[in-house]
Amino acid sequence: MNAKAAPAKTNPRLHTPTSLGAEATRDVSGALNALLADHFALYLKTKNFHWHVSGPHFRDYHLLLDEQADQIYATTDPIAERVRKLGGTTVRSIGHVSRLQRVSDNDAEYVTPLDMLAELREDNARLADRMRQTHGVCDEHGDVATASLLEVWIDEAERRAWFLFEATRPGETPGR
Ligand SMILES: [Fe+2]
Repeated sequence: MNAKAAPAKTNPRLHTPTSLGAEATRDVSGALNALLADHFALYLKTKNFHWHVSGPHFRDYHLLLDEQADQIYATTDPIAERVRKLGGTTVRSIGHVSRLQRVSDNDAEYVTPLDMLAELREDNARLADRMRQTHGVCDEHGDVATASLLEVWIDEAERRAWFLFEATRPGETPGR
């Protein structure tokens, strides 16, 4: 899988018992750590756009992005703790996140509101794709618990993508 995301040899003092086996620890933990980095990167990008969005739909977009950022952030702790339960070690710093993340940052001085929502929609859709791939890794190792968590997080990412899509769909009638 993603060799870059594979955990280094775990310090024996951080070893946690699991009956899933060393390969599951390596493969599932590696995939989860990359997903964790993606969630932190997407969390900060969503907050970035929450803080910098402007224009006539400010209130709607500002609130939508805050709600989505909260949901993304709430996912980070269960991912990290799942890695520890599997006997792996997890992300330790912003620097560590930046080495693992596949969600690209957007440091642009100004982004139009529609571009913000379109970019986040794409990011959430790709995140759902990567979580589906990780679900396959879990299946290979019989890790039903991680697979079950992923099913919820995939649904949440797809919901976020849906809301972002609908918020940018051209309206047929003005207002509501
Ligand atoms: Fe806020």
